[in-house]
Amino acid sequence: MGHRVEVEGWPAFEMGPDETLLEGCEEAGVPMDSACGGFAACNACRVQVLVGAESCNPLLDEEIPFLDGPDQRLGCQLRVSGPVVLRLAPGM
Ligand code: FES
Repeated sequence: MGHRVEVEGWPAFEMGPDETLLEGCEEAGVPMDSACGGFAACNACRVQVLVGAESCNPLLDEEIPFLDGPDQRLGCQLRVSGPVVLRLAPGM
C-alpha cells in the first residue's frame, strides 16, 4: 500500500514502501536532481522533512556528510512508512 508524499509546490503522490523518494519523485514528475545517480554521494537529491520524520527510515551513515541539519535527508536513500511533507532543498 502506498503512502502519501507531498513535496512543497507539487501535487501529492503515493509511494510504495520499497520505493525511494527519488524513484517516487521520478514517477510523479517532481523534479528531484540526482547528480550521483542515487548512490548517496552528492547533495542534489537533498530534502527537508517538514512533517512525518517518524515515518522515515533511519538515517544512514552515508547520508550524513551531505546534510546540513537534523531535518534533512537524501531523497535517494529515503523510504517512508507513513505520510510525509517535504521540501526540495538542494542549495541549503
Ligand atoms: S542522488 Fe546523489 S545523493 Fe542522492
